[in-house]
Amino acid sequence: MNTDIYHVIHRRRDVRAQFSGEPVPDDVLERVLGAAHAAPSVGLSQPWDFVLVRDRDTRQAFHDHVQRERAVFAASLTGSETERFARIKIDGVLESSLSVVVTYDAGRGGTAVLGRHAIADAGLYSVCLAIQNLWLAATAENMGVGWVSFYREPFVRRLLGIPAEIRPVAWLCLGPVFHVEAVPDLERHGWRRRVALRTAVHHERW
Ligand SMILES: Cc1cc2nc3c(=O)[nH]c(=O)nc-3n(C[C@H](O)[C@H](O)[C@H](O)COP(=O)(O)O)c2cc1C
Repeated sequence: MNTDIYHVIHRRRDVRAQFSGEPVPDDVLERVLGAAHAAPSVGLSQPWDFVLVRDRDTRQAFHDHVQRERAVFAASLTGSETERFARIKIDGVLESSLSVVVTYDAGRGGTAVLGRHAIADAGLYSVCLAIQNLWLAATAENMGVGWVSFYREPFVRRLLGIPAEIRPVAWLCLGPVFHVEAVPDLERHGWRRRVALRTAVHHERW
């Protein structure tokens, strides 16, 4: 295990095709979820929950939904984008052995969440930090993670019995991998390229 923080950050990839299908060892899962749960959160609200989905039928039902949403997106494309998208795999729901669905509970943290009065999204940002911790910890454990967002929230709520006031934020595929690609899939398939850091850095003013 190479846990050097910069090495892990740069080695992390969104994984779809490289899952081996082997189970995630219990001790690894405990450490990865522990890393997620150690994330910073606005007002120490810890507004996340983690739904662990192993059941094949549930994952199959989600996968079928993802395929339908893939078709919805594909229908919005034209020309060469249609062809490029057709070659891109967008999930590893069935190839990985475990899905971790991360949710957001805006009611967590009491009535006065310190730091959220002016920016309601700060709760959602906190959940995303938990997800990133999970992603990096899994990478350090030589596991792959794939974030799937081709879904409608009401469908996932119904499928997993998530209460109406709770938002599903991410469906994450998690599991051992054959290997991790050095270059993001979207770049390898010519969909988009990463931009240089200097294009994102501004000095003094936007
Ligand atoms: C919020 C979010 C949603 C994403 N949804 C999907 C998805 O539905 N399917 C997919 O294949 N990748 C998804 N990704 C992965 C991105 O495509 C990926 O992070 C990006 O192309 C950069 O590649 P890398 O993560 O390997 O560096 C998602 C990533 C994020 C942060």
